[in-house]
Amino acid sequence: MKEIVVISGKGGTGKTSLTASFAVLVAKVKNEAKEIAEDEFKDYVIVDGSPGVGCPVVSSLSGAKFVVLVTEPSVSGFHDLKRVYELVKKFNIKTGCIINKYDINKKITSEIKEYLIKENIVHISNLPYDEDFTKAMTNGQTIVEYSSGRLKELVTDSWNTILKNVS
Ligand SMILES: Nc1ncnc2c1ncn2[C@@H]1O[C@H](COP(=O)(O)OP(=O)(O)OP(=O)(O)O)[C@@H](O)[C@H]1O
Ligand SMILES: [Mg+2]
Repeated sequence: MKEIVVISGKGGTGKTSLTASFAVLVAKVKNEAKEIAEDEFKDYVIVDGSPGVGCPVVSSLSGAKFVVLVTEPSVSGFHDLKRVYELVKKFNIKTGCIINKYDINKKITSEIKEYLIKENIVHISNLPYDEDFTKAMTNGQTIVEYSSGRLKELVTDSWNTILKNVS
């Protein structure tokens, strides 16, 4: 069993929305994998992290095989991303980053991309700002259940990129 943790320095970046989507995708993959071959069956635990760099984040990091940083391109979002990554570094865990709502500030998005390259963080994906995320949430669904279009595809691709990078 491998554990994947989703965190961000800042609140409201999209951790819960994405964690719930990934969990749904895992359930689907599980069912398919069961049908294909018992020995290819894999389990994942996806942990929805707390904002900040305090004790809850530290405890969620321990034992994790891969860290997904969810950030958004705002001054505080980028600042908190750097702050939380300084903490993650100490755990020596392979890390990837999703730039959520990337299109709300394309200048900061490119600064974040440069930072990811510099720090050797896997750039998992850019996800656009889309009201469907909130509509899905108020509908009691994840975005992969609510959307059948581009957003579902992007979140699914993000999950597949995470899987490729979990050692
Ligand atoms: N790409 C997006 N476009 C538009 N709205 C989004 C997007 N991603 C998430 N949201 C919305 O942003 C809000 C915050 O998302 P979410 O609750 O997933 O953040 P969080 O990081 O888990 O926050 P917290 O740190 O408070 O737990 C929600 O209303 C969600 O619907
Ligand atoms: Mg949350």
